[in-house]
Amino acid sequence: MTVLGIDIGGSGIKGAPVDVDAGALIVERVRVETPRPATPDAVLPALVDVAGSWKSGDPVGVTFPGVVRHGVIGSAANLHPDWLGLDAAARFTAELGRPVTVLNDADAAGVAEMAFGAGRNVRGVVLLLTFGTGIGSALFVNGRLVPNTELGHLELHGADAELHASDRIRDERGLSWRDWAARVQDYIAHVERLISPDLIVLGGGVSKKADRFLPHVKVGTPVVPAVLQNNAGIVGAAMATTGRF
Ligand code: BGC
Repeated sequence: MTVLGIDIGGSGIKGAPVDVDAGALIVERVRVETPRPATPDAVLPALVDVAGSWKSGDPVGVTFPGVVRHGVIGSAANLHPDWLGLDAAARFTAELGRPVTVLNDADAAGVAEMAFGAGRNVRGVVLLLTFGTGIGSALFVNGRLVPNTELGHLELHGADAELHASDRIRDERGLSWRDWAARVQDYIAHVERLISPDLIVLGGGVSKKADRFLPHVKVGTPVVPAVLQNNAGIVGAAMATTGRF
């Protein structure tokens, strides 16, 4: 079964048709820059643009980088506050003319990793953390998602953790991989104390460069890079339309 998955991120909007039985993109993904300021009115045409690359009447799965409760946006730390309270599922459905399911971006990546990647067949408490523009989290208990955990906004050294350890901060501050790894370690150690996970999966854009920083991250919990890397959000978005999580 093929379903279109679209991942709205703080820096790019990426989409591709996904084989939801294999957990793989069936063609190369399309990417456009996330417009700035990232208001709903600016982002919607970009979303329509990406979705328009593949015309079909099928449902579409879309991720959003904030809290999404039953299709309604509850937070938008790295997009415009105009998103707050918007029924994104209804608005996207109206704009795309196809039924749209909306879920948090990290939750979507987690869903894909649990089914096809590093969390496959892992029981107990699994936490996926994405390091990109922000820090996203997806918590699974015996394979079942606890949505909207938002652990990127835990307080660390008196500030929002994602302002200390996201990949955007590494980039903006010109941090070396080793210096940034120290921040990631600090953050993960904090999360570990609160949740005691059995496995941590690192996703987001940096997962494909895990060899540069992961060896420097020393924590008690096993930490592995995401297998689907930066495509996990697109795959999870598509899976969400089928209720397979
Ligand atoms: C948002 C999360 C999101 C994460 C990654 C955070 O700022 O609050 O909902 O998952 O960024 O995009």
